Order: sequence, then structure tokens, then C-alpha cells
Amino acid sequence: MERTLSIIKPDAVAKGVIGKILDRFESNGLRIAVTKKIQLSVGDAQAFYAVHAERPFFNDLVDFMISGPVVVTVLEGENAMQINRDLMGATNPKEAQAGTIRADFAQNIDANAVHGSDSVENAANEIAFFFSEREIS
Ligand code: CMP
Repeated sequence: MERTLSIIKPDAVAKGVIGKILDRFESNGLRIAVTKKIQLSVGDAQAFYAVHAERPFFNDLVDFMISGPVVVTVLEGENAMQINRDLMGATNPKEAQAGTIRADFAQNIDANAVHGSDSVENAANEIAFFFSEREIS
């Protein structure tokens, strides 16, 4: 059984599509092991996206991620990481396949509705960033 981390970003939370996005996961064989709605601090967002610290979009990314609450979720299932990435679609919603979460709910590459871990190894680190093991069932 594999685990991955999903973040429903401030744009999608503000749009009121948390339920619709969580339904995509459950309807495609992923189990919600734990989920919570939280407001990230500047430090949280900078630390979570530290790998992008040198990229030109880093400050905009941090500003966007603290612009409102997010929903962080641990998804579980066979091939959970790749299934979640397939459900999300391309990072830039303009390139995302029809029927994916980003094609249906995202505006642009910054406000792109969801984040998902891009490897099983990163998933473990991202899950540990938000949840303790005893919170995950
Ligand atoms: P995410 O999967 O959350 O990981 C980093 C985020 O940076 C990405 O989604 C985008 O929302 C944002 N971003 C903004 N510009 C770029 C870019 N040029 N390339 C990749 N990610 C970008």
C-alpha cells in the first residue's frame, strides 16, 4: 500500500470545490487516510517548497500558498502517487488533459488547484511535514 500527499490549494478552497476534488480521489480507488484544512504561515510555505527556493517563481508561490487555507490529505492505495498525479494533470492547467483536476478547476500555473508529491520518497517527507504517524489511519 502506497501513500502520497495532496494539497488542495487556496484557489480551489476559495472556489468551494474541496468536496469535488476529494471525490475524484475516492472515485478513483484512493483512500483518504487523513485530511485537514489549515492556514500555512510564511515559514511553513517556504519550508515545504524549499526545493524551489532558487526558482524565480518562489516568492509568488509562497505568497499564493498563504493567501488562504489549504486542505492537506494523505491518500493511500496501490500506485497512489502516480494515480494522484494522473488525476491532477499537468502543472500548467493550459497543458492539462481534459477531465483532470487542473483542467477542470485551475486558473493558471500559480493558482493550479492542487499539489501532489512527485515521487514516493518525496511523499514520505511531505506527509511527515504535515502529519504525525499516529494521526494517519
Ligand atoms: P506544485 O506541484 O505545487 O509545485 C510547485 C509549484 O510552483 C507548482 O505546483 C506551480 O503551482 C508553481 N509554479 C509556478 N511557476 C512554475 C514553473 N515555471 N514551473 C513549475 N512550477 C511553477
